[in-house]
Amino acid sequence: MKDNALVTGFKTTRQQSLQACEPLAIDDYGLQAEAFTSPPKWHLAHTSWFFETFLLKPFLPDYQPFCEQYEVLFNSYYNAVGEQFPRPKRGLLSRPTVDEVMHYREHVDQAMMQLLSMVDHSDYLQICQRCRLGIEHEQQHQELFYTDLKYSLAINPLYPSYMNGLPEKQLTESSVSEPAAMQWCEYQGGAVAIGVDEAPLSHENFSFDNESPRHTVFLQPFALANRLVTNAEFAAFIDDGGYQRPELWLADGWAVVQSENWQAPLYWRERDGQPVEFTLHGLLPRNPDQAVCHISGYEADAYASWAKARLPTEAEWEYAASSQANDHHEYMTLQPSPASGDQPLLQLYSDCWQWTGSAYRPYPGFSPAAGAIGEYNGKFMCNQWVLRGGSCVSQANHLRPSYRNFFYPQDRWQFSGIRLAKDL
Ligand SMILES: [Fe+2]
Repeated sequence: MKDNALVTGFKTTRQQSLQACEPLAIDDYGLQAEAFTSPPKWHLAHTSWFFETFLLKPFLPDYQPFCEQYEVLFNSYYNAVGEQFPRPKRGLLSRPTVDEVMHYREHVDQAMMQLLSMVDHSDYLQICQRCRLGIEHEQQHQELFYTDLKYSLAINPLYPSYMNGLPEKQLTESSVSEPAAMQWCEYQGGAVAIGVDEAPLSHENFSFDNESPRHTVFLQPFALANRLVTNAEFAAFIDDGGYQRPELWLADGWAVVQSENWQAPLYWRERDGQPVEFTLHGLLPRNPDQAVCHISGYEADAYASWAKARLPTEAEWEYAASSQANDHHEYMTLQPSPASGDQPLLQLYSDCWQWTGSAYRPYPGFSPAAGAIGEYNGKFMCNQWVLRGGSCVSQANHLRPSYRNFFYPQDRWQFSGIRLAKDL
């Protein structure tokens, strides 16, 4: 990303966060249904806090913070920065108001324009690198905005729609054709390289620190499903007693099935005896051909056992995906679609993040950056699983084969689905 492209990227991303909020009612901005979700207003403020904390305060001479107390209020988890307002209570912050948060954003944007114009600044390269990190960080929060909002809207019995319209086209397009039979793409494996060589935080060819260093892994011959598991296929797992058969489940997964009484994916419902699902467009008929979504890692693993397959490893996924182009839609679909296209592997980035069976751990030789910014990824490399690809609420230019997303295996409020793998 050239320096002027960096300014454009900054402006575009900041604007996209505001555009995502346009369909909201003012009453929606504080919604926080659970501790693991954050209100829209908090995402708007925290992404600004990131630029203020990691760029403006250290690098812009005489920068005046918009409000000193925001340092604590909108700090997510950076212990080296200092105290944090308790995450489960973010929804209680009726002040600052939405208006005040919008002014905070403008204040940060103006100061950032000033900072990015200081090309003779002695730390200009680091400023560009951190700005790029801030852009990618905001893109991550744009996805969280959708997943958190969907979760909070779903607990309302009125099943409010975030936005009407778009999926009707997707529904009519897809309901006329049978789902393509799943096929296996075969790979011989061997010694292959995964990860990236670029210096972490490079602003030209961006990758997060957790994608480095590039290194060699050995893969046994394997096959990947050419598309994601569909709603109809997952319904067959349920009909076959999938949620009642402990032999299909990891012990930790079975414990969650019992304690949470899981019977189906997160947003599946019945209305007048018909299968429906909650979407960002409200309750919609469940499309049997669409990729099954909002699946935990445990459910993905149990489904794979039932299907006499397994989840891919992250190395298998990256190796196989590296030879293909990014298939993300040009527009944000907000809902997974049925598989289509003519590439060997379909739905790599466009529909649902794909659970892998790989533990989220550092690559050999990984070292987090010094200081608070080093808390970005490294300290979360414990008890989580890696997901690969992207989703219908990701920004297309945020995704790449080496991207390592990560969540706890019981998490299912992300747009997460299943791509099967097997040994050859
Ligand atoms: Fe964040």
